[in-house]
Amino acid sequence: IKIAVFASGTGTNFVALYDHIKQAQLPIEITRVICDQPKAAVLDRARERQIPIWTHRLKEFEGKEAYEQAILTQVQADNAQLLVLAGYMRIVTQVLLNAYAGKIINIHPALLPSFPGRHGIEDAFDYGVKVTGVTVHYVDSGVDSGPVIAQQPVAILPEDSVESLAMKIHDVEHELYFESLCQVLRDQGLLTVQDNG
Ligand code: GRF
Repeated sequence: IKIAVFASGTGTNFVALYDHIKQAQLPIEITRVICDQPKAAVLDRARERQIPIWTHRLKEFEGKEAYEQAILTQVQADNAQLLVLAGYMRIVTQVLLNAYAGKIINIHPALLPSFPGRHGIEDAFDYGVKVTGVTVHYVDSGVDSGPVIAQQPVAILPEDSVESLAMKIHDVEHELYFESLCQVLRDQGLLTVQDNG
């Protein structure tokens, strides 16, 4: 099973997925990391693990559609079957949504539909909710919208700071994304029970 991971930043979710796949000895291959920020730390993490990279800035292209067309050409050449967004800070357009309908997933550090956008952890903390969490969902043309695949709550305790909350959220993400990935691959008939997923 071939998947592409899309990321723009640190890449801890990429590393967690890579490690889990390896540890569980599943027949899943991360064929490439797609990255819109050529200086992002995720690229070093990919290189260290010998995972091929595609990285270009949007401004190198005529526009968003041309940019995504180039990405589409790459992921199709790699025979990627699922696109896994892990801290990819761009809204996916119809170019990828049409070609990979129902085959793009994302992780968000809040309980959607609450606190979408770039600052889900801080926004939940600042609001003062007592429970936030992590959502894995299918991607559509909105910002952090699309059918929910899995959610896990995380309590915000009186002694929490935004930093301690972020740590708890990321720990949950690093487990939940792998579990959700396996669930999606099983639902799509790509991963079987014999694969031990
Ligand atoms: C994660 O919190 C994810 O939920 C959000 O972006 C962050 C990416 O972190 N979409 P990392 O690059 O995987 O460390």
